[in-house]
Parts: sequence; C-alpha cells; structure tokens
Amino acid sequence: MTRPKVSIRGLYKIFGGDPERALAAVKRGMGKTELLESQGHVLGLQDINVDVAAGRITVIMGLSGSGKSTLIRHLNRLIEPTAGEILVDGEDVMKLGPRALLEMRKTRMSMVFQKFALFPHRTVLENAGASRRIRGETADVADREGRRWLERVGLAGYENAYPAQLSGGMQQRVGIARALTSDSDIMLMDEAFSALDPLIRTDMQDLLLALQTELHKTIVFITHDLDEALKLADHLVILKDGRVVQQGEPQEILLHPNDPYIVDFISDINRARVLRVRSVMERTQAPPEAAAGEIEENATLESVIALSGGDTGKVYRVMQDGAQTGVLHMQDLVRALVPTAASEDGLRAGAA
Ligand SMILES: Nc1ncnc2c1ncn2[C@@H]1O[C@H](COP(=O)(O)OP(=O)(O)OP(=O)(O)O)[C@@H](O)[C@H]1O
Ligand SMILES: [Mg+2]
Repeated sequence: MTRPKVSIRGLYKIFGGDPERALAAVKRGMGKTELLESQGHVLGLQDINVDVAAGRITVIMGLSGSGKSTLIRHLNRLIEPTAGEILVDGEDVMKLGPRALLEMRKTRMSMVFQKFALFPHRTVLENAGASRRIRGETADVADREGRRWLERVGLAGYENAYPAQLSGGMQQRVGIARALTSDSDIMLMDEAFSALDPLIRTDMQDLLLALQTELHKTIVFITHDLDEALKLADHLVILKDGRVVQQGEPQEILLHPNDPYIVDFISDINRARVLRVRSVMERTQAPPEAAAGEIEENATLESVIALSGGDTGKVYRVMQDGAQTGVLHMQDLVRALVPTAASEDGLRAGAA
C-alpha cells in the first residue's frame, strides 16, 4: 500500500481549562453531553483515525458542531491536539519547529474558505498570486501563475477587477485559483461551496472534479451536504459529536451503513443517481448468456434503468477499458435501490 499523504492517528481535541483531566474521563467512556455537563469541557474530537490518500478527494461530512472545522484546522496545526498525531508525508506535524511549520503552511497546503477570504483592496490577479508573493517570489512569477490559473477557472478578463465587483461564485473561483497558484499538493476546503446558490454550487463541484482529473491534488473537503459529499468523495468520513461514525468509499457506505445514524442520514438520497454499476454487479469475466447489451462499470444505476426501459429481467455485460469486469442482473440493481432499513421497515409492516 502506498503511504497516505496525511495520516491522522488517535486524535483527540478537548476545549476547556483542563483538557488532560477531561481526556482521561473521555477515555473512560464519557460522552460529549456528559463531559459538558459534569466538567464544563467541550469534546471537539475523539479518537479520530483517518488516512488521506494522495491525489484523491477525502470528504469530511457531519452536521453543524460535529467537529469538521476543528479537524481540518489540525492538519496545518492552526489548532493543537489534546492527544494524537498528524503525519504529513510521514512527518509528524507536532514535531515541526516554528519555521518548518510556517514553511509547510506556505508551500505544502492551501486553503479555500467558505467566505472566500479575498483581500478586498487587491485586484483579482493580486489575490490569485498572493500565496506566491507571500513566499517571496517575484511579482512576475506571481502574476504569470495567477493569470494561468484564473484562466483555468474561467476568469480570464477579470484580472484587474476587485473582489466586490464579482458575484459570489466568481469570488470563489478566485479562491480556487489562489489555492492552485500556490502549487501545494494538499488543498484544504472548509465548506468552500456552502455559501453559493445551488446552481452555482453544482458548477463549482463540476469545476473541481474537472480540475482534479488533471491535477490529482490531495483534497480534504468539508461539507455538511450529503449530496455534495457523495458527488465529490473518493473517501467519505462521517463525523458525529466529534467521532467518526463510518468512513469508506461512498458507494460502500450507501450499500452497507454500519450505524442507525448513517441509515437515517442516507435515507433520503436518490440511490439510483449515486450508486454505480460496479457496486452492485457480479464480478465475473464469464460472458453472460443473452446479454441485453454492454454498459460501463461507472455508469449510474439511473442511466441503466433508462437503458433497460425498466425491464427487470435483463442482464448486461459490464465493461471497463475494453474488457469485461462483471455482469449486471437488473434484479440486483432493483434490490440495491431499496435502503437496508427501509426494507426492514417494510418487513415489519408486512408482518403486522
Ligand atoms: N475554540 C473553541 N472553544 C470551545 N469550543 C469549541 C471551540 N471551537 C470549536 N468548539 C466546539 O467544538 C465542537 C466542534 O466545532 P466545529 O466548529 O469543529 O464544528 P463544525 O462541524 O465545523 O460545525 P459547522 O458546520 O457549524 O461549521 C462544537 O461543539 C464547538 O462548539
Ligand atoms: Mg465548521
């Protein structure tokens, strides 16, 4: 296995006057509510273990207060942990001296914020090149790189405008261009699209995915929106009350939720749109008898339903890169559309 880009190990964060004492209580099993009531301490994070794979999008999802921002701020040590370690490229961030830490923040990580955080009195181009200037590179280099990435995010022609002259969506494009201009391999995005209108938000998600197919950045993306999480995540981490309830490939979580909280959380999702053929097909190289046609592994179930005309008797040959990887029985597809808990509810209703 290749080494994760970022490794979070046994991370705890407790806010309050005596976090060590509170930590001992948490390790004995005290929960967030009780800790607050009995000791006046806030349990921010508990026993977080997450590997962030290089070149992939890791999404941290959870409701307000679940600890998402606290977690992401640990990665560049804007917050000090109460316990645990964070390794970046195998190096313990806690052991970095002030200079090395600054260097890491400037060169290896970039951040995109929910509220854009642009400099209001600087032009779009100056904003885009800011990270280069801060690193002490020349204005020529900063402008050249800034210009290049502004063009890439669709903002060519706006170089001399000021942030206030742009719409929210355009301002966030500047935010993304600024992060890309820094040329760091890790991008931290805390609710980066949450302040945008739904349609603009979808555009930005598409832009990020399009960029990612070329750039292969290591992205940690925070959101409280499940649809956004499912769309973007290669690896999805679901937080609740400061702990990881479940993490894995989104498809895997949808098909095998391991906790009632997750079952509840995913119950309203359009499964046909999110689930892919590869997650529900039978893995076999043996050609099926009487295949109705060939489909791709990564096709959504929705697209196959349309293709089949709703015929549940059909069987498809599943192809990837010109070779068969599996066989899809429409009956398996239909079964996957029903969430686990819902089918149990159905059974209970039927038995009553
Ligand atoms: N500096 C702090 N002092 C005390 N408690 C804090 C501090 N920062 C965060 N917390 C608490 O830690 C918990 C996690 O907060 P955090 O901001 O990480 O949540 P979040 O998931 O980012 O929420 P949101 O979606 O609202 O941004 C919350 O209970 C919060 O009140
Ligand atoms: Mg937050």
